[in-house]
Amino acid sequence: TNDEENAGTVKKQLSKLFEQSLRITVPSESDVEPLIAACAPKFGDYQCNNAMGLWSRIKNKKDNGFKGPPSIGKVIMENLPPTEMIEKCTLAGPGFVNIKLSTSWIAKNIQKMLIIGIETWAPRLPIKRAVVDFSSPNIAKEMHVGHLRSTIIGDTLARMLEFSNVDVLRRNHVGDWGTQFGMLIEFLFEKFPNWEDASGQAIGDLQEFYKASKKRFDEDPAFKGRAQQAVVRLQGGETSYRRAWAQICEISRNEFNNVYQRLGVQLEEKGESFYNPYIPGVIEQLSNQGLVEESQGARVIHIEGVNIPLIVVKSDGGYNYASTDMAAIWYRLNEEKAEWIIYVTDVGQQQHFEMVFSAAKLAGWLPANDNMYPKASHVGFGLVLGEDGKRFRTRNTEVVRLVDLLDEAKNRSKSVLIERGKAAEWTEQELEHTAEAVGYGAVKYADLKNNRLTNYTFNFDQMLNDKGNTAVYLLYAHARICSIIRKSGKDIDELKKTGVLALDHDDERGLGLHLLQFSEVVEEACTNLLPNVLCEYLYNLSENFTKFYSNCQVVGSAEETSRLLLCEATAVVMRKCFHLLGITPVYKI
Ligand code: ARG
Repeated sequence: TNDEENAGTVKKQLSKLFEQSLRITVPSESDVEPLIAACAPKFGDYQCNNAMGLWSRIKNKKDNGFKGPPSIGKVIMENLPPTEMIEKCTLAGPGFVNIKLSTSWIAKNIQKMLIIGIETWAPRLPIKRAVVDFSSPNIAKEMHVGHLRSTIIGDTLARMLEFSNVDVLRRNHVGDWGTQFGMLIEFLFEKFPNWEDASGQAIGDLQEFYKASKKRFDEDPAFKGRAQQAVVRLQGGETSYRRAWAQICEISRNEFNNVYQRLGVQLEEKGESFYNPYIPGVIEQLSNQGLVEESQGARVIHIEGVNIPLIVVKSDGGYNYASTDMAAIWYRLNEEKAEWIIYVTDVGQQQHFEMVFSAAKLAGWLPANDNMYPKASHVGFGLVLGEDGKRFRTRNTEVVRLVDLLDEAKNRSKSVLIERGKAAEWTEQELEHTAEAVGYGAVKYADLKNNRLTNYTFNFDQMLNDKGNTAVYLLYAHARICSIIRKSGKDIDELKKTGVLALDHDDERGLGLHLLQFSEVVEEACTNLLPNVLCEYLYNLSENFTKFYSNCQVVGSAEETSRLLLCEATAVVMRKCFHLLGITPVYKI
């Protein structure tokens, strides 16, 4: 159908047209893919860059029919099928074909989105199911800013994939199966013989408890011996040990949930313990394939090009982080049928994951070619720094409690709202809601707007600034657009159906084109796993809107209806960006 043909990003639709032209223009080079890219406004909207490459392929062929890249570009233009999408093409420089889209086609697409909904602009990805493994803190240990970054970045990636109609399994791969549990359980038994009646109350602060039991472990060899025994009894499934373990996990889980709840992040816990029963079978399979070798008592997989082997069974016969990850990747590919597995951790774990992926390729679970599915990707990120340029900590080098950090962001934004007199204007509920949206949104956006691989400096004043590239600025911009529409007194839903959107002014057209590019930006952010691409788009969108709004009168102008529709479209796209970034939009500010 016509709708099917018109589906996909602008870039994809142009690619289809140019592909048809390329096949007629140079039939001999039928494997050449169209090269279409957005370009600087002075050249046009998009560019087709195939002429130069084609020329170097055919210039030595006799009677190729062309004099050089420009002559190829010219014929590419002539052979384009008729389309309402393009207004005109022009030839530039050494053979670039500059493309100017039809303005009415842009306007029509935006109006269609307004009527049917932004879902029509969801990118299409070549996969149905993905696993995003993110957050993943360790039980009884500190959940630190690295886990916060993983939570924020992972949630955004999951949201973008979900928007693109991918079934996403959001996995919290918590560290709930380490040897630390022997020590913790033994300490629990020793200090609180009635631990089971106290249902978690005995332990109190789990991190303090962890420290105290570690101290005992290091100081008393007899205790250490019992702790090591306890691990064996836990792993053997002895009831009281399993119960104590479950109780400790539950305390941690409640703490993690305090963070997730504030951030509005959904996760399904499948911790290390979940994969434990699968490890022996997976290792047997790998051994049968001849991939596992003996090395200094341990059992390892050698990976070409890496100087250390992947240890899958320790010399004491126990399993480790890598054994679990081998079982997990096996499970996700073979049982859960994931076509893309995405792991979000700090860059420090990059080598670990590369080795796990290589081992999975050797086993034939993943194709050797990284451009094929199923595939696995490690999404690494840099450190969070304090203002002193060192690893982020609060005073006294104490660890930062994430809940306190988030609460501070919220309280600071609440104070600003109160200073601006909002306590008198709004209900307490509105005040709370806005303070949360702004505070948590600021923390998320400050993280996401950077290329994730770089370290970034955590700074409340900067992220809560209402000017510059911050969530606060963007939330304000959105609220202002909503208020323009509200104050016009027009029924926007009615206008969508009866009004006509036109983009006659240059700044209207510029904004309209930017809106239409939303889809390819989300696609790029998904494909390259780079949320900052979407942040940059959102910021530019708000800049484009400002330009339009300062040069084009909306309310009371002859173009009022059309311009209100453009305002509404901007607000819809901004809200979808917020949604994908995990930020709650506000309507009044
Ligand atoms: N628990 C680990 C940590 O805190 C992160 C786990 C990441 N996921 C995985 N499948 N290894 O560093």
